[in-house]
Amino acid sequence: MQQAQICILGGTGFVGRTIVSQLLKKGYRVLILTRHRERHRDLLVYPSLSLIEADIYDPDQLKRNLHDTSVVINLVGILNEARNKRQSFQQAHVELTKTTAEAVAEVGVTRLLHMSASNADPSGPSQYLRSKGMAENFILEHGRKNGYAVTSFRPSVIFGAGDSFTNRFAQLLRSIPLVFPLACPDSRLQPIYVNDVARCFVAALFDERTYGQRYDLCGPRVYTLYEIVSYIAQVIGVKRHIIRLADWQAKLQASALQWFPGKPFTPDNYQSLQVPSVCSEPFPSIFGIDPRPMEDLAASYLQAAPDKLDTLRKSILQ
Ligand SMILES: NC(=O)c1ccc[n+]([C@@H]2O[C@H](COP(=O)([O-])OP(=O)(O)OC[C@H]3O[C@@H](n4cnc5c(N)ncnc54)[C@H](OP(=O)(O)O)[C@@H]3O)[C@@H](O)[C@H]2O)c1
Repeated sequence: MQQAQICILGGTGFVGRTIVSQLLKKGYRVLILTRHRERHRDLLVYPSLSLIEADIYDPDQLKRNLHDTSVVINLVGILNEARNKRQSFQQAHVELTKTTAEAVAEVGVTRLLHMSASNADPSGPSQYLRSKGMAENFILEHGRKNGYAVTSFRPSVIFGAGDSFTNRFAQLLRSIPLVFPLACPDSRLQPIYVNDVARCFVAALFDERTYGQRYDLCGPRVYTLYEIVSYIAQVIGVKRHIIRLADWQAKLQASALQWFPGKPFTPDNYQSLQVPSVCSEPFPSIFGIDPRPMEDLAASYLQAAPDKLDTLRKSILQ
């Protein structure tokens, strides 16, 4: 019998690719809707995967692509806004979630998995967290009222080969000589491994106990940002004097770096770091997972030479 088709929005990204890989291994058919098919051609090697270029903000295009789908997974998210309309928190998190909700209800898809974030809250301290919170509340409520089952996931920062967290710090540590000025050194984080996040998504697919629920997902250990950056420096073998910036210096750094290419740090990122990204409860036992700590895994990909990283990433995904 043919397995169900899972449609993923944002499936070409860091978390998406890991979820895709696990779904394919379980025999599901996967449909990824992307803005840039050519950019992600490498995914076409999988026979059970379809990669379709679509404007997912257009309700008609979205609905047209959902007809043969049993489950929608929405992973679309941005950390920083750009000037273009579809790269605002409101558009990418709130409006897109609403468009997706309406498409799912209209086409008759009965299951949706939603990617939120730790501390997502309509009255949170940053636009990122507020928009994530609004989207999450909306989709859970909409699902309840319209007869489809929603599960929302709220991970702390996610690490793994190809992440933009540990790899970004490794890159900065390598490129900034001698001293490394670190904003928000005392912020507390509980990083979770990308494969563990993906396993939760896959385990939740048709598990009715997860319907209507939100799950905080954290790794086994809490670290300060200072501890994480020191660990990364040690793993990649660079000696840097890491300077703990005072709060006013961190704000100043964010105001300046928001204008740099790629926006390495923004006032909104600063605001997000004001709340600890940690879990108050143990890992949800329903997923049957013992989440792995960063120290078990990060060295293998942080130490890999850039030309080996792609191979390493693929081997981890297989
Ligand atoms: N990474 C973390 O540490 C972390 C922690 C907590 C929560 N999350 C959440 O997890 C989700 C996935 O994160 P990720 O790290 O995998 O992100 P990612 O690598 O940037 O991937 C996100 C994907 O979403 C699509 N996308 C990006 N911006 C978009 C926009 N403005 N409009 C429409 N589509 C857009 C892109 O797909 P196409 O280019 O193919 O269209 C991209 O591949 C996000 O919702 C994020 O907020 C991540």
